[in-house]
Amino acid sequence: MDRNLAIDLVRVTETASLGAAKHLGRGNKIAADQAGVDGMRKMFDTLDIEGVVVIGEGEMDEAPMLYIGEVVGAKGEGSTKVDIAVDPVEGTNAVAKGTPNAIAVVAMAPRGCLLNAPDMYMDKIAVGPKAAGRVHINHSVTENLKATAEALGKSIDDLTVTILDRPRHEATIRECREAGARIKLFSDGDVATALATCFDHTGIDIMLGIGGAPEGVIAAAAMKCMGGDFQGKLVPFTDEERERCIKMGVDVNKVLYMNDLVKGDEAYFAATGISDGDLLKGVVYTGNGTARTHSLVMRSETGTIRFIEAIHKLNKKPEYAY
Ligand code: FBP
Repeated sequence: MDRNLAIDLVRVTETASLGAAKHLGRGNKIAADQAGVDGMRKMFDTLDIEGVVVIGEGEMDEAPMLYIGEVVGAKGEGSTKVDIAVDPVEGTNAVAKGTPNAIAVVAMAPRGCLLNAPDMYMDKIAVGPKAAGRVHINHSVTENLKATAEALGKSIDDLTVTILDRPRHEATIRECREAGARIKLFSDGDVATALATCFDHTGIDIMLGIGGAPEGVIAAAAMKCMGGDFQGKLVPFTDEERERCIKMGVDVNKVLYMNDLVKGDEAYFAATGISDGDLLKGVVYTGNGTARTHSLVMRSETGTIRFIEAIHKLNKKPEYAY
């Protein structure tokens, strides 16, 4: 795939983020999501791709834009054929409340390479490159903490685990505490926190717990670019979800490794902060019609990780202005 597509992709997440960030703390997650979707959708058509949305805003009858199966991009004769996974606002509640970790995010891979994950929960484990290959989702929490600590050359009491703050994680939290690890709970946005395990400056060493399955595919694409490790297992909670897995031929006991979630070696990833997080700063409106965004863009082929801070003159870019 053309390497410039990675840089092009960041415009897509910047536009979504600029739209959604206008709604920070305003208590309206639907409006925030809609603004993110609108921004992202129109920017996609500037990319020289023929991209099939495999993870998006829902099925065609639920979502008018960025629905599963929608084909986006310039769709020219020579356009690169890709799979796209989007979350224009990953952390809609975080935007509505003005809490951390909301990002606009896109992952891209050659056609047929991204898992079309059902919209249900997934049990997840994520670690950075140093602990990659040392953890396993079927091992106990304590075993995984020990393995991560060893790989990082730390004692368990210096290890920081991040976990989505939900009642379903009570046992996991208890086991982490008993093992002596430090815990950082977060209220939303497990894509951003999975990524945070790959950067020393965040102080986060491992992410554990159950979040959305589609978000798992997006996080795996990012981990592939960074050499981190991500494993997941689908967690159907209802009979309807169990049936959906059977229909899709998905074995719920199967461990989904990075190559099951994102096949092959080519993946692109871009994210832009909407609200402040450990990894990315949120949008700042700097006055006089300008706004600053903070993004991350990566390609697995080269492993280059770019943080891009951009100052947008919104009055000169009508497509960015809301
Ligand atoms: P949304 O933007 O779809 O609300 O997702 C935010 C999120 O926190 C994800 O990062 C996470 O995977 C999922 O929700 C967890 O689901 P729940 O809020 O139902 O526990």
